[in-house]
Amino acid sequence: MSRQAYFNQLADSWDKRFQTEALSTFIEQLVPTFGLLPGQKILDVGTGTGILIPFLLKAVGPTGQISAIDYAEKMVKICKAKYAHLPNVTVTVQQVEKLDFQSQTFDAVTCFGLFPHIENKEEALRQMNLVLKTNGKLIIAHALSRAEIKAHHHNASSVVAHDELPTAAVMEKLLTQAGFGKIHIIDKPGQYLNLSIKLHVAL
Ligand SMILES: C[S@@+](CC[C@H](N)C(=O)[O-])C[C@H]1O[C@@H](n2cnc3c(N)ncnc32)[C@H](O)[C@@H]1O
Repeated sequence: MSRQAYFNQLADSWDKRFQTEALSTFIEQLVPTFGLLPGQKILDVGTGTGILIPFLLKAVGPTGQISAIDYAEKMVKICKAKYAHLPNVTVTVQQVEKLDFQSQTFDAVTCFGLFPHIENKEEALRQMNLVLKTNGKLIIAHALSRAEIKAHHHNASSVVAHDELPTAAVMEKLLTQAGFGKIHIIDKPGQYLNLSIKLHVAL
């Protein structure tokens, strides 16, 4: 089974499993550490059912805009039903390795729970760099540490059993190659947060 089919299959039960009070509390405390500002344009990649969206909306306020993408159509359908009626939220089916936005559009790109699953990480980083404004922020975050993510995926399904976050050294190399700098990584029990800034256009 492909990862895309795997996530489509999980869509209907996603919110029941993951939209918990504990995760909401975690995200509520996490998002303010992203340093987002009112009026900013944010792209949430691998949005799933849009668990991050209400918290991003709170950070950017009514003058901000959220674009959310996911390659699993069933996730997008649920996300649209929840948020697409809002005037400043747009949800589309897209693959992170083939983003369909103008270059220099977003102030920040958020990847919550996505990065280990991306098949072509170099191309995904290049695409996220292109759609970010210069000095825009890339935010890769999880509610687990790198080691905890590895164990979680190993136990979840053979489809994602080997989906891991790269080591800090590899992450720094990938991000630097894709035009990012000022890289700051927190990796501790119950949290992974990788913040970096677009310094120049990916080559
Ligand atoms: C673990 S889920 C996280 C969903 C959501 N961010 C959350 O925290 O509930 C990963 C999501 O990323 C999507 N995804 C995985 N690889 C992708 C890719 N290459 N392009 C776009 N979406 C992708 C999956 O369809 C899935 O919805």
